[in-house]
Amino acid sequence: MALSVLLLRPYQRLLVGASKWSRLSSVLSGHSLGRIENKPISTAGAPETLTSHMHGLHTLQRQLQQIAPVLRAGYPPLVATTRRLSALSGTCGVQESSMENVGLNGADRMVEVEWSDGGVSRFPYIWLRDNCQCPQCFKRDSRCRLILMSDLDVNVSPVRVESQARGGLLSVEWSDGHQSRYDWQWLKERCFSPQVMSERGKGWQRKTRLWGAELTHDLPKADFPVLLTDDRALYDFLVILDSVGLVLAQNVPCDVGQVERLANRVAFLRQTSGFGKEFVVVNKPNPGSDVAYTPAKLGLHTDLNSYSSKPGVQMLHCIEQIEGDGGDNSLVDGFNAAHQLKEENPDAFRLLTTLKVTFRHVGVDYNKYFLLQRQNVIRLNDQDDIQSISYSDQSRTSMLDMPADQVQPFYDALKSFNTIMYLPGNCVRLKMAAGEMMVFDNTRVLHGRSAYSPDSGTRHLQGGYMDWDDVYSRMRVLEMDHGIKE
Ligand code: OGA
Ligand code: ZN
Ligand code: ZN
Repeated sequence: MALSVLLLRPYQRLLVGASKWSRLSSVLSGHSLGRIENKPISTAGAPETLTSHMHGLHTLQRQLQQIAPVLRAGYPPLVATTRRLSALSGTCGVQESSMENVGLNGADRMVEVEWSDGGVSRFPYIWLRDNCQCPQCFKRDSRCRLILMSDLDVNVSPVRVESQARGGLLSVEWSDGHQSRYDWQWLKERCFSPQVMSERGKGWQRKTRLWGAELTHDLPKADFPVLLTDDRALYDFLVILDSVGLVLAQNVPCDVGQVERLANRVAFLRQTSGFGKEFVVVNKPNPGSDVAYTPAKLGLHTDLNSYSSKPGVQMLHCIEQIEGDGGDNSLVDGFNAAHQLKEENPDAFRLLTTLKVTFRHVGVDYNKYFLLQRQNVIRLNDQDDIQSISYSDQSRTSMLDMPADQVQPFYDALKSFNTIMYLPGNCVRLKMAAGEMMVFDNTRVLHGRSAYSPDSGTRHLQGGYMDWDDVYSRMRVLEMDHGIKE
């Protein structure tokens, strides 16, 4: 990769990779530099040109020092794009700046900061005191607040504020004599303005790539041994799992325990009362518990809707596959199907997002279990985005807590949703070969299986689950450890 060498002072050097260089260029082409030089500095030229412009400019040096942590950490993206808010985001595109003026607004109980690049941010007194970053108030290594609400005077006020380090630090002296200091960038990232807050909100949105049958020819794949050893490959795999919801891992050893190996590489297996850690899907002579353990067709479903928080990620590893027809899987993007339902039949969509179905799993497998939970078939979040699909004809109970005259419209709605999900244009068909593992989002992707003849040989899958919180945690750790930016 091409490296640019940026000289701040003869003794200070920063090595800048190509992508960081382009981000840095956009920072440097900002208004502060232009003003210092009294003309815009072209950052298109060689870094040495820039260096000569910089020489001897004290203010500029300070500003570059402020950029330095950005260079080390990777410049945060303007918009974080998933529901998991990446480790290095939350900074929502803070541009190079400093504090021009700081002052107290006693009437509103706010510290007001005027920025060198324009605009004013207002920080409530109580928020500043509660978030003092000094070692007495905040444990930096574990990013943990040490102040207890019991000891916090919520009416506390500053007696004095000033900007220090040429606008790089806000210093606050409190009425009880405590001193706090806040870094300009830390403050700017936490600005309460509606624009900044809306930008921050985007960090929680998912970047979802909806799909239909066409994904069959474009199926995201990952090499299992590489996933186990290469952090970047693991990260990329998890990003796709998050945005597409389905990845086929290949070259998986054909023995039991691979699901747990992958789970342990990401986080750990989510255990369930019924299935314990890994579960085995084979044709069992006396199934007793689940239709999956017969050779019968399995309709499209999501697993374990009977949990209030059902497993987020499902892994199905094929150890043995039958030779003849059948035993192949159908996979459907439930978010895509729900969007289609919303377009074509808004009333049905409304019913499935408001009325609740009771799901139940009863049996003996790993343990004796009796899981019971009410769910919306299509769950929306507080922004009315589709958040989760819970669908299973097998485990939907006869208990319907809704007025009798809603029942027929409710069934009509279920039927419409079901018809859409089975449209050939929405289904990916996949017959896993031994050594393949489907990994998919169980809150989004419906899966089913065609029937097979028990006489066509043995079909053996190993299954397991993980939770999205733990997957997202792993992704943030990978981002931090490797400076990965999406
Ligand atoms: C299951 C399941 C699919 C299959 O066990 O929940 O969906 O292909 N199995 O057997
Ligand atoms: Zn403090
Ligand atoms: Zn299933």
